[in-house]
Amino acid sequence: MENGGYVGGTNPAGKKVIAELRGVSKRFGDVLAASELNLSIGEGEFLSFLGPSGCGKTTALRMLAGFEAPSEGDVLLDGEVVNTLDAHHRPVNMVFQQYALFPHMTVAQNIGYGLRQRRPRLPRAQIAEKVGKALDVVQLGGFESRRIWEMSGGQQQRVALARAIINEPKLLLLDEPMAALDRKLRKEMQIELQDLQRQLGITFVLVTHDQEEALSMSDRICIMRDGRIVQIGSPQQLYDRPNSRYVADFVGTSNFFDGKISDRSGELATVALDNGMSVQGKPGADLSVGQEVCISVRPEQMKLHHRHAGVDVEVHNRIFLGEHTEYLVSHETLGDFLVLSPRQSELAEGPFNVGDKATVTWEPSAALILDRN
Ligand SMILES: Nc1ncnc2c1ncn2[C@@H]1O[C@H](COP(=O)(O)OP(=O)(O)O)[C@@H](O)[C@H]1O
Ligand SMILES: [Mg+2]
Repeated sequence: MENGGYVGGTNPAGKKVIAELRGVSKRFGDVLAASELNLSIGEGEFLSFLGPSGCGKTTALRMLAGFEAPSEGDVLLDGEVVNTLDAHHRPVNMVFQQYALFPHMTVAQNIGYGLRQRRPRLPRAQIAEKVGKALDVVQLGGFESRRIWEMSGGQQQRVALARAIINEPKLLLLDEPMAALDRKLRKEMQIELQDLQRQLGITFVLVTHDQEEALSMSDRICIMRDGRIVQIGSPQQLYDRPNSRYVADFVGTSNFFDGKISDRSGELATVALDNGMSVQGKPGADLSVGQEVCISVRPEQMKLHHRHAGVDVEVHNRIFLGEHTEYLVSHETLGDFLVLSPRQSELAEGPFNVGDKATVTWEPSAALILDRN
């Protein structure tokens, strides 16, 4: 089963499909930049491609936009195959990683550029009106006559957005649009972008390598690796039910322990860890006895105790984070791992100091058994 039997999938729930990738691959010479992508994008959806640099995110986006044709498979918009249809004939707009603004033009000239290229020509007053509206949407009203080089990074980002939404595209593609902004500004823009999407009702496809960004903004996320989509799901589905170690590691933080499945019956399976311990866990996919796997336990699923049966550890580091305290603990053979202790249990159990002996427990259902890769 492609998704390890897990929920989440290539189709948006209960939404009209407006764009589709069907078995889409893209080769650049020897490089397989995209491999057998299957995905349906729903109307009004906020979808993200998330993965490390070079995994094929931009390539996927460029095929949706019409800047690249697939080597194999089909790209569909509104149910029609558009594999070789030019970008400017698609109801799609793209915001590029480098905003690709014309530095010598004013803000208004940049935003209205596409409209001025239209034939038959649009009346100037109509262009000015549309530009004004687009500027209002991105909160840059009054900046019409500024030159691009007079605008800050965040403002340039908004100009690029305004230029993309002025045509009222059905699909807006955003390639790491926040990459050039500092952290604080990025946070602000993330919220603005979400507001904008709700306000306009346009379908957004965002490319990012920033998991926080993808988690906080998206309805669904496609996790990519080496040109392939390895899992698609809502942020919560991916966090709670990753189908591989790769996804568990990429989405959030987790502790991993390697081992082999020694028994499988019912809901849980038993894993013989490499250090000789035997632990129970919940299989995250179709796994068979003898298979090399890893156990994944999120730090917040682990509990730290003073005197209790459990895994014996020593506290190596303690970081007070207000709401939570993060402990780095060390086990003789399992090595170091993280435990996130909520304020509540800190108050009940008392704090743990560096050097303290403690025990760690977790529910078997919180230990996901995953493919090691
Ligand atoms: N025009 C191209 N010519 C040759 N190789 C390319 C081209 N575009 C992308 N690639 C290669 O395809 C792979 C995926 O690239 P890309 O889609 O840009 O990844 P991402 O956006 O996830 O960083 C990379 O190995 C990249 O070097
Ligand atoms: Mg890219």
